[in-house]
Amino acid sequence: MKKLTGSKTKTAVFISGTGSNLKNLINFSYKKNSPISIDLVISNTKKANGLTYAKKNNIEKKIISFNNQNKSEKKIINILYLKKIKLICLAGFMKILSKKFIKKFNGKVVNIHPSLLPKYKGLNTHKRALENNEKFSGCTVHYVTSKLDSGKIIMQKKIKISKIDNVSSLKRKILKKEHKLYPEAIRKILS
Ligand code: GRF
Repeated sequence: MKKLTGSKTKTAVFISGTGSNLKNLINFSYKKNSPISIDLVISNTKKANGLTYAKKNNIEKKIISFNNQNKSEKKIINILYLKKIKLICLAGFMKILSKKFIKKFNGKVVNIHPSLLPKYKGLNTHKRALENNEKFSGCTVHYVTSKLDSGKIIMQKKIKISKIDNVSSLKRKILKKEHKLYPEAIRKILS
């Protein structure tokens, strides 16, 4: 049975940059049978272009610097409680959340990463995959722990690397897959 709008899982998206995944998740949340509503966007920098999608869609946004991680996380926890957020989707968020934060937030925290984890954790995934002459790459949605890109894998999508691929073509191909994968993975964990 389809979920009614009122019963959608209140979700926060954490970003630091372009926000194409945020945009995609907002569009997904508008679908009638989507299990989530996006109620909050958090960015650690005011320079994140993705913030424009929050503005355009009238979604509350908070910029929290993370200069003092402990204080920032406390602030975020308060907002999450106030807004009854039950799911956090990290989407290009460049900070590592503490164990304490993940434990305190009594919900689910997931992330999307542009590689076939456990391969190529961290930054520059496409460059490293190309340098290693990988035949395949892809993207992964996983649960977040305080260890970088290491939590339990929820879903992956694979793409073939062609001989003419470079960092930007690979990035483009994988982002396209990411936009399919993130909604599917969210459906999976909320069903
Ligand atoms: C994506 O490739 C995501 O997998 C990674 O950071 C990138 C964010 O892109 N964690 P965008 O800001 O959603 O466009």
